[in-house]
Amino acid sequence: MVKKKTCVFISGQGSNLNNLIIRSRENNFPIKISLIISNNKNAKGISYAKKYRIPYFYIDTKKLNYEKIVLYNLKKYKISFICLAGYMRIISSHLIRNYQNKIINVHPSLLPKFKGLNTFSRMLKKGEIKAGCTVHYVNKKLDSGSTIVQKFFYINNHDNENTLREKTQKLEYKAFPEAIIKIFRNI
Ligand code: GRF
Repeated sequence: MVKKKTCVFISGQGSNLNNLIIRSRENNFPIKISLIISNNKNAKGISYAKKYRIPYFYIDTKKLNYEKIVLYNLKKYKISFICLAGYMRIISSHLIRNYQNKIINVHPSLLPKFKGLNTFSRMLKKGEIKAGCTVHYVNKKLDSGSTIVQKFFYINNHDNENTLREKTQKLEYKAFPEAIIKIFRNI
């Protein structure tokens, strides 16, 4: 099986990145993580790039030409698939055009509910019954591309933002790899 060369974009903890790296080392997993891009110099996730000796670099999204650098590197590493794993920036339409239907994201809510930031506090305020995560394609509109995999759990009276985050992330570790398998099984 020829694994798709994949780039993961991160901004922070990188626990989804770590999970994807581990899963991608399995024989039958469809992707190989060949590049990691962070827009945060101090992202903890960069430590996984070092640990597993995966090429990585930091991009300063305030710089005007940063997109050119990103695209140059994606081509250089022959990247054909992109995973956004806690990447806290909107992807430019230029990049989306270059990777049409080849960029996916994991979002901590049951989309289309609670697009954007601060999902857990908004869910609690609204008295939601269910929470969960969605892995979806990335298009020009924030958190609006079609859903690939969605997983949910029931919120209980003791839940707070922290417990919701923990439970959601546990589901993300299943949903993200599942979505990748689903995409490449269908091609
Ligand atoms: C994830 O929970 C994801 O839903 C959101 O950002 C978080 C990133 O966590 N988009 P990590 O960096 O993978 O630990």
